[in-house]
Amino acid sequence: MTELAIIGGSGFTNLEELEIVRREVIHTPFGEPSAPLTHGIFNGLNVVFLPRHGTAHTIPPHKVNYRANMWALRHIGIERIIGVAAVGSIRGDMVPGAIVIPDQIIDYTYGRHNTFFENDLTHVTHIDFTNPYDEMLRLALYNAAETAGIEVIAGGTYGATQGPRLETSAEINRMERDGCDLVGMTGMPETALSRELEMGYACCAVVANWGAGRGTGPITMEEIDLHLSAGMEKTRKLLSTLSGIL
Ligand code: HPA
Repeated sequence: MTELAIIGGSGFTNLEELEIVRREVIHTPFGEPSAPLTHGIFNGLNVVFLPRHGTAHTIPPHKVNYRANMWALRHIGIERIIGVAAVGSIRGDMVPGAIVIPDQIIDYTYGRHNTFFENDLTHVTHIDFTNPYDEMLRLALYNAAETAGIEVIAGGTYGATQGPRLETSAEINRMERDGCDLVGMTGMPETALSRELEMGYACCAVVANWGAGRGTGPITMEEIDLHLSAGMEKTRKLLSTLSGIL
């Protein structure tokens, strides 16, 4: 039985330490997932890995088929997911390179297929989303961080924007007033869809840059790549330790 799914984001398109057992192509009623599912053993745990932006990182955030990805994971019996995500920082202590385990979300995305509950319904369904992330998985991530000696920031509000462009400084200021600490483009509808399918989901957010207007100049891809590679290194260690204790 596969015990954990890891969805990789920007800077995390493969899980090198995974001892690959097989790749599985799944066609879903909602279209094709971002990539075949890679099954393997990760620090003793049966894990499946899915790169959100495709194997060659070619699918932008607003084009990801979130429903196909989530449906495919549920179809193979997944009950727990860690979504790794690159984010910009709005809060001063969440410096580039930091890892944050958010506990809340505000959704600013639009025009994405954001539910499984819209066609051929026998009744209208509203999922509870008061606490969008799975508390047990979040706690497991803190425990893993402590065991591995990796600093993570516990809690924070993830603002999900539409992209693919980055934000204006006024948008970042508005998001801060709304209560956002982080900004990213993929947290929604991924998190809500996993709840609709009754899979527990936690986010491991890696700060790639200061949000627009919070750094010293324009946001560059070089800056993002630099911080992502440092942050993703820590993330790999964190997820390996997590796999060892789950
Ligand atoms: N904004 C939105 N998404 C992001 C950012 C950002 O600054 N950095 C990485 N993903």
